[in-house]
Amino acid sequence: MPDTIVNIAIDGPVGAGKSTVADEVARRLNILHLDTGAMYRALALRVLALGIDPRDEATVSGLCADAALRVEVAFENGMQRTLLNDEDVSGLIRTQEAGLAASTISRYRPVREWLVARQRQIACTQSMVLDGRDIGTVVLPDAKVKVYLTATPEERARRRHQQLLEAGQVAVYQDVLEQLKTRDLQDQTRAVDPLRPARGAVMLDTTHLSFEQTVQTILDLVALA
Ligand code: DC
Repeated sequence: MPDTIVNIAIDGPVGAGKSTVADEVARRLNILHLDTGAMYRALALRVLALGIDPRDEATVSGLCADAALRVEVAFENGMQRTLLNDEDVSGLIRTQEAGLAASTISRYRPVREWLVARQRQIACTQSMVLDGRDIGTVVLPDAKVKVYLTATPEERARRRHQQLLEAGQVAVYQDVLEQLKTRDLQDQTRAVDPLRPARGAVMLDTTHLSFEQTVQTILDLVALA
C-alpha cells in the first residue's frame, strides 16, 4: 500500500463534465478515477432488468440486502469497467433511461449506504479522483481537494446532447434539457445526502471555461493542497 493516499473529490450536477474532467486529472496525476455514478447506474440496470419500478423503494432497497448481488469496478489500463455480478455493463449503463432510474434509486438510504461503503473501501487503498454527488459531503469528507463543478443548465444540456449524438444515440436537445432539470431537482431535493457543495469545496463554474482550463485549475488546487 502506498504511504500517502491522496483523494480528490469532484461533485456537481449532471452534465457538469465531472467524469471527463476527473478522468483527465487522474491521468495527469497518474492515479485512478472512480466514477461513482456508474455504480448507481449498474444497480438501476438490475432494477430495470428485473422489471421493478425504480419508484418502489421497498423492493429496490431489498435488493441491496441480497448477498448474491454485486456491483463492482475493475480497472484496466487505468480505465474503469463497471461490473454487475461479473458482467461488464460499462456500455449498457450509458443510456438516458439508466441515468434517470439511477437518480430515482439513489434517493433510498439503503442504496446509498450500500454503495458508499463500497466506494470508501475502494478509495482507502489507493490515491484516486472520485466523482459523484456526495463525495466531499459524505463518502470522503476529508478528501485533500474538494471541487464542486457546475455550469448553467443550458450549457450542461448542450454538452450532454453532443455526447449522446457522438455515442450514436438519438436525442433532442429540449428533451435532454428537461430531463437534466428533472434530475437536478431530484438530486438536490432528496432527503438523504442531497447534492450540495461540501464544506471547504472550491466552486468551479465551467460555463465559460475550456476543458483544459478546468483541468488545470484542479491540478493547481492539488499542487497547493
Ligand atoms: O453521474 P451520473 O449521471 O452517472 O449519476 C447517475 C445518478 O446517480 C445521479 O442522477 C445521482 C446518482 N448519484 C448519486 O446519488 N451519488 C453519487 N455519488 C453518484 C451518482
